[in-house]
Amino acid sequence: MILQESMNWVLVENISLTQLEEGKIIETYAGQKTICLLLKGNTVLAFAATCPHQGAKMCEGWMDAKGQIVCALHHYKFAPESGRNTSGEGYKLRTYSVDIRGTEIYLAINS
Ligand code: FES
Repeated sequence: MILQESMNWVLVENISLTQLEEGKIIETYAGQKTICLLLKGNTVLAFAATCPHQGAKMCEGWMDAKGQIVCALHHYKFAPESGRNTSGEGYKLRTYSVDIRGTEIYLAINS
Protein backbone atom coordinates (compact mmCIF):
# COMPACT_ATOMS: atom_id res chain seq x y z
CA MET A 1 0.00 0.00 0.00
CA ILE A 2 1.31 3.43 -0.92
CA LEU A 3 0.63 6.28 1.46
CA GLN A 4 0.45 9.62 -0.28
CA GLU A 5 1.67 12.71 1.47
CA SER A 6 -0.54 15.73 0.98
CA MET A 7 0.95 19.05 -0.01
CA ASN A 8 0.15 22.27 1.75
CA TRP A 9 0.96 25.59 0.14
CA VAL A 10 2.51 27.68 2.91
CA LEU A 11 3.08 31.43 2.69
CA VAL A 12 6.59 32.74 3.31
CA GLU A 13 5.41 35.46 5.65
CA ASN A 14 8.50 37.57 6.27
CA ILE A 15 9.81 38.12 2.74
CA SER A 16 8.22 38.98 -0.59
CA LEU A 17 9.33 38.61 -4.19
CA THR A 18 10.50 42.22 -4.39
CA GLN A 19 13.00 41.66 -1.56
CA LEU A 20 14.94 38.89 -3.30
CA GLU A 21 18.19 39.73 -5.07
CA GLU A 22 19.50 37.79 -8.06
CA GLY A 23 21.90 35.05 -6.97
CA LYS A 24 21.68 35.77 -3.24
CA ILE A 25 20.68 32.89 -0.95
CA ILE A 26 18.28 34.04 1.77
CA GLU A 27 17.40 32.00 4.85
CA THR A 28 13.81 32.38 5.98
CA TYR A 29 10.92 30.17 7.02
CA ALA A 30 7.61 28.85 5.73
CA GLY A 31 5.30 27.79 8.52
CA GLN A 32 7.53 25.96 11.02
CA LYS A 33 10.18 25.05 8.45
CA THR A 34 13.42 26.97 7.97
CA ILE A 35 14.28 27.11 4.27
CA CYS A 36 16.42 29.00 1.76
CA LEU A 37 15.22 31.06 -1.18
CA LEU A 38 17.17 32.00 -4.28
CA LEU A 39 16.19 34.25 -7.19
CA LYS A 40 17.81 32.82 -10.32
CA GLY A 41 16.83 34.72 -13.43
CA ASN A 42 13.05 34.99 -13.30
CA THR A 43 12.65 31.93 -11.11
CA VAL A 44 12.36 31.70 -7.33
CA LEU A 45 13.85 28.47 -6.01
CA ALA A 46 13.50 27.03 -2.53
CA PHE A 47 15.62 24.41 -0.81
CA ALA A 48 16.70 23.13 2.58
CA ALA A 49 18.42 25.54 4.94
CA THR A 50 21.12 23.03 5.83
CA CYS A 51 23.53 21.07 3.67
CA PRO A 52 22.87 17.31 3.39
CA HIS A 53 26.58 16.62 3.87
CA GLN A 54 27.33 17.92 7.36
CA GLY A 55 24.61 20.45 8.04
CA ALA A 56 26.29 23.75 7.15
CA LYS A 57 23.95 26.69 6.61
CA MET A 58 23.23 26.95 2.91
CA CYS A 59 22.64 30.71 3.22
CA GLU A 60 26.38 31.07 3.88
CA GLY A 61 27.06 29.57 0.47
CA TRP A 62 26.72 31.24 -2.91
CA MET A 63 25.59 30.76 -6.50
CA ASP A 64 28.50 30.21 -8.90
CA ALA A 65 28.81 31.37 -12.53
CA LYS A 66 27.10 28.15 -13.72
CA GLY A 67 24.07 28.75 -11.49
CA GLN A 68 24.94 26.01 -9.03
CA ILE A 69 24.83 26.68 -5.32
CA VAL A 70 28.03 26.03 -3.43
CA CYS A 71 28.10 25.03 0.23
CA ALA A 72 30.50 27.27 2.14
CA LEU A 73 31.94 24.50 4.32
CA HIS A 74 33.34 21.90 1.89
CA HIS A 75 32.31 23.48 -1.43
CA TYR A 76 30.02 20.66 -2.58
CA LYS A 77 27.77 21.94 -5.35
CA PHE A 78 24.04 21.46 -5.92
CA ALA A 79 21.56 22.34 -8.65
CA PRO A 80 19.06 24.58 -6.84
CA GLU A 81 16.23 23.44 -9.16
CA SER A 82 16.53 19.71 -8.42
CA GLY A 83 18.87 19.43 -5.44
CA ARG A 84 21.17 17.20 -7.49
CA ASN A 85 24.72 17.11 -6.10
CA THR A 86 26.51 18.34 -9.23
CA SER A 87 30.00 17.97 -7.76
CA GLY A 88 29.40 14.21 -7.50
CA GLU A 89 29.56 13.26 -3.81
CA GLY A 90 26.15 11.57 -3.93
CA TYR A 91 24.10 13.80 -1.64
CA LYS A 92 20.69 15.31 -2.42
CA LEU A 93 19.57 18.73 -1.28
CA ARG A 94 15.87 18.88 -0.42
CA THR A 95 13.98 21.26 -2.70
CA TYR A 96 10.46 22.68 -2.53
CA SER A 97 7.98 23.69 -5.21
CA VAL A 98 7.36 27.44 -5.31
CA ASP A 99 4.24 29.33 -6.34
CA ILE A 100 4.31 33.11 -6.77
CA ARG A 101 1.00 34.88 -6.15
CA GLY A 102 1.46 38.58 -6.81
CA THR A 103 4.53 39.33 -4.74
CA GLU A 104 3.79 36.60 -2.20
CA ILE A 105 5.87 33.42 -2.17
CA TYR A 106 4.26 30.09 -1.33
CA LEU A 107 6.05 26.78 -0.83
CA ALA A 108 4.65 23.28 -1.11
CA ILE A 109 5.37 21.62 2.23
CA ASN A 110 4.53 17.98 2.96
CA SER A 111 2.07 17.47 5.77
S1 FES B 1 28.59 20.63 4.98
FE1 FES B 1 28.10 21.29 2.98
S2 FES B 1 29.62 20.41 1.73
FE2 FES B 1 30.09 19.69 3.73
